[in-house]
Amino acid sequence: MELAEIIKSRRSIRKFTDADVPDEIIQKLAEAARWAPSPTNRQGTEIIVIRNRDLKDKMAEVVKQSINELETKVPNEDALQTLRDYGNYFTFFKEAPVVLVITYRPKQSITGILTGSSGKPRDYIADISGTAAAIQNILLTAHSLGYGTCWMTGPLIAEEPLADLLEIRPPRRLAAIVPLGIPAEQPEAPKRKDIDSIFRVVE
Ligand SMILES: Cc1cc2nc3c(=O)[nH]c(=O)nc-3n(C[C@H](O)[C@H](O)[C@H](O)COP(=O)(O)O)c2cc1C
Repeated sequence: MELAEIIKSRRSIRKFTDADVPDEIIQKLAEAARWAPSPTNRQGTEIIVIRNRDLKDKMAEVVKQSINELETKVPNEDALQTLRDYGNYFTFFKEAPVVLVITYRPKQSITGILTGSSGKPRDYIADISGTAAAIQNILLTAHSLGYGTCWMTGPLIAEEPLADLLEIRPPRRLAAIVPLGIPAEQPEAPKRKDIDSIFRVVE
């Protein structure tokens, strides 16, 4: 497949067969992540590979607990329903044969240090973006090899308990959870915006 075809035909996969994912495939995904661009070539991305069923279940359980805690704080019925509808979109990763947990290491940018704007999102956007590039490399490579993935940040609602469970120590932080396996569904492509609406030429 040509790169453009790989990019277009990749879909977020939320149902997987039980077929295991060989170590060679994980190696290829790690290799694709390794070659992503990163700010000042810091290469802050790390990947935790989880096959253990109990651990996957525990991860989903702490996410569910965080959703339950939020349910007590939502202001109205509509918001509560939306939160409940999201539930499965935050926890289905536990049914995948492999779960990748992607982490990054935020380093405050020099402009952030000089302007004293410590802690603002733009201070860390470079490191988050570098890890996002690595994640996209993983997704596209997996798809090109016949594997399905889904980039998930919903579970980060439980970032702290997940970090505790997986022994991810500060300053390292979770960037995404990516379930991986042979797709058991072929979702329709969600509609994209018209090409003319997403760019403009400034003369
Ligand atoms: C940063 C990011 C976070 C996402 N988080 C979730 C998530 O928590 N749960 C989920 O089911 N899908 C999640 N998605 C997948 C999007 O819903 C999906 O990419 C979008 O609907 C377009 O569908 P496609 O990937 O099949 O083209 C996420 C995607 C991105 C890029």
